[in-house]
Amino acid sequence: MTHRARTLDTQIRAYDGAALAEAAALIRAGEPVAVPTETVYGLAADATSEMAVARIYAAKGRPSFNPLIVHVSDLAMARRLVAVPPVAERLAQAFWPGALTMVLQRLPDCPVAQLASAGLPTLAVRLPSHPAMRALIAAAGVPLAAPSANASGAISPTRASHVLTSLGGQIPFILDAGPTSEGIESTIVRPQDDAIVLLRPGPVTAEALEAATGLPVVQPDGGEGVTAPGQLESHYAPSKPVRLNCPAPLAGHFHIGFGPGPCQRNLSAAGDLVEAAANLFAALHEADASAFAGITVAPIPHVGVGLAINDRLRRAAA
Ligand code: TXA
Ligand code: MG
Repeated sequence: MTHRARTLDTQIRAYDGAALAEAAALIRAGEPVAVPTETVYGLAADATSEMAVARIYAAKGRPSFNPLIVHVSDLAMARRLVAVPPVAERLAQAFWPGALTMVLQRLPDCPVAQLASAGLPTLAVRLPSHPAMRALIAAAGVPLAAPSANASGAISPTRASHVLTSLGGQIPFILDAGPTSEGIESTIVRPQDDAIVLLRPGPVTAEALEAATGLPVVQPDGGEGVTAPGQLESHYAPSKPVRLNCPAPLAGHFHIGFGPGPCQRNLSAAGDLVEAAANLFAALHEADASAFAGITVAPIPHVGVGLAINDRLRRAAA
C-alpha cells in the first residue's frame, strides 16, 4: 500500500448550496472531495488534471494500475471523452442517469488525465443520477474521476461516516447527503456490437441489459481480468474473517442475516434483494467495528442483484 503522508482536518458538511460551492472550489483547486452518488460515496477530483487524479490515488493508497470511473453530467460530455457506438447509445438511453458504467474507447483528443485510465486506451464513463454528484459536476464544470471513497481494498462507503472512518485525515472535505440508495457500486460493462461484456455485476442486472439491447450478456474472457484490475480477488475486505452461506448464527460471530431468523444485522428481513444491496456495506462496516472476532453471512439467493451482492461478499471473504 502506498504511503499516505497527509494529515488534514477533514470537514463533513451537510449538502446545501454553500457546501456545494465550497466543494466545487476545492475541485477546481485540484483537491479530492467525497460526494455521494446513488451507488456509494465517491472520492471525486477533476478528471482532466493529472495532479488532481494523483491525489485520489494517494488518499486511497490505491495501486496505481487500477483505473477510475469518470462521471459526466450528460451524454454530450461523454461524447467529448469517448467514442459512443450505437450499442452504448442504446444503453445510455435505457440506464442513464443511473448505476451503469461503460468502458469505451478514449477519443484521440480526450482531455481526461492518462492516470485516470491507468494508461489504458479505454475509459470507464458513468452518468450518475444523484443530485449532489450531478450538481458538483455542473458547478466544477469538468468531468469528475471518482472511485469509491474508501481506502484501497476496504469496504465501500454508503454513508459520510464510513468515508470519515476510512479517509479521515487524507481528504479535506466530505459532502454529506445521507445514506446512498442503491448501496452497491455500479454495473460495469464493455459494449460490443454483438454482446455486452459484464465486467462487474451491479444494480443494473444482466436481465435488464439483455432486455434493453436484445444482445447477450457475456462474461469477460481470461485476459480481461487484466483490463479490469479493480476486480482483485480480495477487495471490500473487513479486518476479520468472513464466512459466507451460513444459514444460522455461529458463536462469537457477528451474523449478517437475510430473511427471517436471528442475527446481529439483517440485510432484509423481508428477503428483498434490492433492500439487501442498499444495506450490505453498512452491515459489513458495523460487523467490522463490532467486538465479535468473526463475521458470518446468511446465504443470498443468486438471482438478479443477488449476483452483485454475492460478488462483493466473495471478495470480502477472500
Ligand atoms: O458506483 C460506482 O461505480 C462508484 C461510484 C463512486 O461511481 N465508483 C466505483 O469506482 O466503484 P471504483 O474505482 O471503486 O471501481 C471502478 C472499477 C474498478 O474495478 C476498475 O478496475 C474498473 O472500474 N475500471 C475503470 N476503468 C476501467 C477500464 N478502462 N477498463 C476496465 N475496467 C475499468
Ligand atoms: Mg471501490
